[in-house]
Amino acid sequence: MEKEIIGVLGAGTMGAGIAQVAAQSGHKVVLVDVNSDALDKAKNKLTKIFNRLVEKGKWEEKFANETFGRIQFSSQTKDFKDCKLVIEAIVENIEIKHSVFENLESIVGDDCILASNTSSLSIASIGSVLKDPSRVIGIHFFNPAPLMPLVEIIPAVQTSEVIKNRAKDLIDSWKKVTVLAKDTPGFIVNRVARPFYGEALRIYEEGVADFATIDWAMTALGGFRMGPFTLMDYIGNDVNYTVTETVFAAFYYDPRYKPSFTQKRHSEAGYLGRKSGRGYYDYSEGAEQTKPNEDKVLGERILNRILLMLINEAADALFLNIASREDIDLAMTKGVNYPKGLLKWADEIGIDNVLAGLEDLFHEYGEDRYRPSPLLRRMAREKTTFY
Ligand code: NAI
Repeated sequence: MEKEIIGVLGAGTMGAGIAQVAAQSGHKVVLVDVNSDALDKAKNKLTKIFNRLVEKGKWEEKFANETFGRIQFSSQTKDFKDCKLVIEAIVENIEIKHSVFENLESIVGDDCILASNTSSLSIASIGSVLKDPSRVIGIHFFNPAPLMPLVEIIPAVQTSEVIKNRAKDLIDSWKKVTVLAKDTPGFIVNRVARPFYGEALRIYEEGVADFATIDWAMTALGGFRMGPFTLMDYIGNDVNYTVTETVFAAFYYDPRYKPSFTQKRHSEAGYLGRKSGRGYYDYSEGAEQTKPNEDKVLGERILNRILLMLINEAADALFLNIASREDIDLAMTKGVNYPKGLLKWADEIGIDNVLAGLEDLFHEYGEDRYRPSPLLRRMAREKTTFY
């Protein structure tokens, strides 16, 4: 049976990656960008990636050619007319997304799903401009889309069950790990992961430890693949700061998500990370790297504090029905490579211990930032576990 034709709008970092995923799963793909340079770049990038996969022996040349041949590069949205799913991956701007979705609906057929890859905008708002808003949905990939297994599926209040199931089945058939998330700021990953950066920055600001020591504690003792400062340097401090600020505002300035001056100043100074040659670390050739203080007691204290805050965030996401416990744990292991699901980790540490640790922080600081989730209190009282 011929597979559905998939449309991808925006041929940037995410759009090109999503087009690859769909094409390698056997779909014809229409990849549209208004900017012809962006289209050329996407074409060159995909050609290079496919050649490398063949060189490495991961793909047969025939498969690479067929996959590439299935992608139609176009500058016109009218080429989406036969698509059954269009995924939008253009700039993160709600006014522009509104006009683009109105335009998309005027082109595609009645049974076409209209999806957004947005990281931070409301799917309900994007869908509000549609004549048939039941066909809107969030389909949120992670960068790089062909390599990261996780995809968050975000039905809006208007989305129909049929569309939700069709979208999920389709993305599952692309061999992705899908999780369902409520249409709330940051969905699962970008919400639950905030303390990985925020609490690390706070620990640094208090003078407890330097960047290298905090990174060492999280990787060597915690088993995280990358420390928070190394990771922020990868993501880009400007990008990571903007996500934090957006999530903070979207949560009506809940102090738990407060951005950090350290990150803001690094951004303002142009210390963006790897892409600018300097971030929290210096990436210039021959630069000397500071050595971490490998004091185990200090390291455990750092790891424990960040981990408690992550677990609190995961527990609160479950408390507020953002996603199921399995999906919250899957999202963090498959979307950001955490060594373990946070709720599973909480069970191992013991809910009593997690709660006691958070209470200590809350009493010491008196800040709302450290308030334990009501779910942890209830679980400690009732002596239950997540699994
Ligand atoms: P990008 O800047 O690399 O690419 C955006 C592309 O969209 C550009 O090529 C631009 O020419 C094109 N474009 C802009 N307006 C357009 C329009 N009206 N019609 C057609 N094409 C248009 O951006 P990136 O990083 O790929 O992000 C795209 C979306 O994906 C955003 O909503 C972002 O929040 C989301 N996202 C980004 C992730 C990342 O790590 N970069 C991860 C997950 C989601």
